[in-house]
Formats: sequence, structure tokens, C-alpha cells
Amino acid sequence: MKTVTARAFSNIAFIKYWGNTDDQLRLPVNSSLSMNLDGIYTETSVRWDEALASDELTLNNEQASGASLNRVVAHLDSIRQRANIQTYAQVLSSNNFPTGAGIASSASAFAALTLAATQAAGLDLNKHELSTLARIGSGSASRSIPAGFVEWHKGESHDESYAESIAAPDYWDLVDVIAIVNSGHKAVGSREGHHSANTSDLQGARVAGAAQRLEICKKALLERDFATFAEVVEHDSNLMHAVMMTSRPPLFYWLPPTLAIMEQVRLWREVGLHVCYTLDAGPNVHCLCLAQDADEVKAGLTKLTGVEQVRSAIPGGAAHVISVSEG
Ligand code: DP6
Repeated sequence: MKTVTARAFSNIAFIKYWGNTDDQLRLPVNSSLSMNLDGIYTETSVRWDEALASDELTLNNEQASGASLNRVVAHLDSIRQRANIQTYAQVLSSNNFPTGAGIASSASAFAALTLAATQAAGLDLNKHELSTLARIGSGSASRSIPAGFVEWHKGESHDESYAESIAAPDYWDLVDVIAIVNSGHKAVGSREGHHSANTSDLQGARVAGAAQRLEICKKALLERDFATFAEVVEHDSNLMHAVMMTSRPPLFYWLPPTLAIMEQVRLWREVGLHVCYTLDAGPNVHCLCLAQDADEVKAGLTKLTGVEQVRSAIPGGAAHVISVSEG
């Protein structure tokens, strides 16, 4: 028996994933593009143990039950099937960022779990297959498997829907400066959001233009063209939030400081700072900027009313194994 510990970084999408064609397999309605966040990670240890009568999960040092345990058990079922084993697992998982700080944890969590659990089961899967498996746990987790700047190809089947690196972390000096405006906010989860995306009249329009926005964003990234990048990233985030707000029931993730920060970011850009915003399913604002402007953005955000905390991350690497111990 061996225990494998893996680490995976969270990621922030430049072109968003919102809505599935297949909820079970998490086949998305559009391809997406993201950057891994260095230093914002989940570390997970897995040991398959013949002596266990059920899967056990410890999350941030607390025994987990209910929905979070069920979601992990369902993911372990997929891995058991792939590895052709029936054994239960002992899973220890912790985030190095406060849970509920509004930074997505399912991406890093399911990427780390997939890597640790498959390695502990004796499988040595390539990145493509790891990404497809991670995707079943959480769509955005597929993007936390490969390194740096990542594209998730929507695909038409389980095997075709995977993420791959389009540029290494050091390709572009981008920094994600995250303005946390409400760490205690319990938002409606992404899963419910993906389900209801189609109830918005705007989802069709968002999806119709997604492939083109992705190409523009990818080209801007590869050419390090910040002005084009900023415009398409903000537009894509605005479109996703327009869909959220017009879904039935509506999902409003913004709080008053969220809007004030977005406005400030636009003003900063007008006076020459290389910065733009993007938001996930929460009120916190990810301010993407060139490294040369990161300190100024950070200092500016810290002064704004309603900003509880500011964290920053440079492009992060791939999910990786940290340790393997026998016994
Ligand atoms: C708004 O990957 O968290 O962050 O597959 O249900 O786990 P599940 O959803 P999740 O959705 C992410 C939504 C988003 C946009 C994005 O990261 O692309």
C-alpha cells in the first residue's frame, strides 16, 4: 500500500466555462481558456486501503460528510472503474488558502485528487487522460492538470474533452491580483449555475460567440498584446454574468464593491495601467495585470472601500506529485 500526495493549483478563466451539453460527463457548451494560479493550491494524499469499509475524507483537518464527501466518493468511483479496483480510499485534502475566501477550490481539489488517486492505484496516466478524468469531478479541474496557460477543448465525447497547455507559465508576465470583497459569502454553486444557464435567453448568444472570443484571446496571449487581451477578457466575463443575472431564478454574484472595483480597473486602464478584470461565480474581482503594474494595482485595490483582502498569483505550473510513501 502506498500513499501518494499531489499538489494542483487553482486557475482563473479568461474565456469562461458556463453550461454543459452533458451534465454527467461535464461536457461543456464551449471551450475555455485559463491560467493556473501559482501559490494557490490544494494538496491531497490518497491511500487505497483494503481494511476500509467506505471512503474517508478529511478536508482541511476536519472529517467530511454530506455533499462534499459524496462528491469525492463519486469521483473515486470513476477512478476505481478506470483502475479496475474495488478498494476504498483514505483521502486527506487541504487548501493553502482559507476555504470560503471566494477563491475557487473545486478546480485545484479535483485535479490534485485525480493525480494522487490514480498514482496511488498504480496508474501512470498521461496529462490528456488525467485532464479528462479530473473534468468529471469538476469541469474547471481539467484545466488545473496542465501547466501555465491552458485551453480546454470542449470535445464531443469523454476522450475528446480535455485541457492542454498552450504556453508555459513564464511565457507572459501576467499577475492575477485578487480583490476579496466578501470571504464569507455563500454563493450559489457553479453546479446549479451550469444547470440553469440555458434558462437565460442570453446563453445562446454567449455560446455562439465563444469560439471566436477564444481565438482572439489566445492570439492576444501568444502575441502578448495586452490591450486586445483586456478587452476580450472583460467582455467574456460580462457576458457570463449577464447570463447568470438573466437565468431563472437569477444569479446575482456582484456586491456593491465588486462594481466599484470593475469601474476603477477601467479607469486605471484609461490612464495607462495594464490591468483588466474577470469574475468567477462570486463577488471577488480577479484583476489581471502585467507584472510591471502589479504593485500599483495591489496598492490601489487595498485602499478601496469593501476590499477585505488582496492576494496575488503569477502563472502556475502543472499538477504534480509531491511525495510517495510506502506502507
Ligand atoms: C464561473 O468547474 O466550478 O468559474 O464543473 O460544477 O465543478 P463544476 O463547475 P466549475 O465551474 C467554473 C465556472 C466559472 C468559470 C470558469 O472557471 O471557466
